[in-house]
Amino acid sequence: MGRSMIETIDPVNIQAVLAHQFEDFDLGSRNDCMRPLLGEGIFASDGPVWEHSRALLRPNFVRAQVSDMNNVYEKHVSRLIRKIPVDGSTTIDSATEFLFGKSVDTLLANESNSTANSTSNAFAQDFQISQAGILLRIRLGGLKAFYRDKAFTKATEDSREYCMGIVREALANRDSPKSSSDQSYVFLHELMKQSQDEKMLADQLLNLLLAGRDSTAGLLSILFLTLAKRQDILLKLREEVLPKLDGRKPSFEDLKSMTYLTWCLKETLRVYPIVPINVRVANKNTTLPTGGGPNGNLPLFIPKGQEVMYSSFSIHRLPEVFGEDAEEFRPERWEGLKPGWAYTPFSGGPRICLGQQFAMTEAAYTTVRILQEFDHIESRDPEPFKENVTLTLASQNGTKVALTSSQKQ
Ligand code: HEM
Repeated sequence: MGRSMIETIDPVNIQAVLAHQFEDFDLGSRNDCMRPLLGEGIFASDGPVWEHSRALLRPNFVRAQVSDMNNVYEKHVSRLIRKIPVDGSTTIDSATEFLFGKSVDTLLANESNSTANSTSNAFAQDFQISQAGILLRIRLGGLKAFYRDKAFTKATEDSREYCMGIVREALANRDSPKSSSDQSYVFLHELMKQSQDEKMLADQLLNLLLAGRDSTAGLLSILFLTLAKRQDILLKLREEVLPKLDGRKPSFEDLKSMTYLTWCLKETLRVYPIVPINVRVANKNTTLPTGGGPNGNLPLFIPKGQEVMYSSFSIHRLPEVFGEDAEEFRPERWEGLKPGWAYTPFSGGPRICLGQQFAMTEAAYTTVRILQEFDHIESRDPEPFKENVTLTLASQNGTKVALTSSQKQ
């Protein structure tokens, strides 16, 4: 419908778009589609506005690498573990604790000592509705001008209002003795040291929540779905993790030293990249290193305004890089493997994912704690994996696994 797309799965072209010729490409219409929810934040901007956000947020992720396991992860992972026999739902509790300094506590809902309230649960739902609306806007391209959806508008406004409320409260209490005595690391409090602009702070938090919520949830859900179906891999993982810790909770260093666990996470992100396709738009006449000429091996002209789509999903399956069994889930392939630009689950270049370390730590921590808590993980899903591509990649059939623990019975 009047929209043309150049698609590439050549690692050299990806490197050009994301790194070598970074200045030639923008995010394009994605910014407009995302603006109602994300404002001027890092995920929905280019040029100097993006640069400003990146400079503001980046230092916090260095600190975040050594973030407090107990306050950020353990608290919510143990609640998740308590919930698993009931419904095992995925949540945004850790992300909001880390970002807002106050969790939406969806995992506490329906528990007798619950402090979770309906407002924060409504936020989780609103955020979901708003995200789905954004996806539709992106897919519609130029036709989005005709798209009107009252539910999207309301959910988007309510999400923003909830987040603004958190920011206002934090700004009002920033000099209170309680807030300065709380030693746990809170992203919002760090940002407030640099700016007290309510809208800007809310924009950044919403952007980070969008970036960090379904991505890590998708990685964990797909990993557990795979482990449940592949008992051989599960056994190897248990053999690495359990004796090493002897029942103790893992530290950051423990997680780093678990090679097979790292391979399993990397392999999940290879076969099921959470951002499976992505698009950039040329902001001037330019070229890609390859794809042109009669044999497709010369530079290719890219006119200003041209959309270029690249698929990590397909690149991650190139047999020349990953071997003839590239379609298969085999963590052992990571021994000595250095795929360079053929492996980009967290993107690359100046816009590489800021939360990579946070996500990998959160996923590793959660996996280890669940393995420690449950003896058996079995599949209840006879179907092969089927993709559901939302803003991120997820499992179409959910994560139908059964977990049992002999200690708890
Ligand atoms: C498994 C989990 C994750 C995966 C696979 C992932 C992947 C990605 C990818 C592919 C991008 C590039 C998007 C683009 O340029 O169009 C990105 C950007 C980003 N991610 Fe992540 N991400 C994950 C988790 C997180 C988490 C937990 C956070 C923060 C708490 C986060 C924060 C960000 C931010 C801020 C950006 C934008 C960077 C920029 O544009 O400069 N991510 N992520």
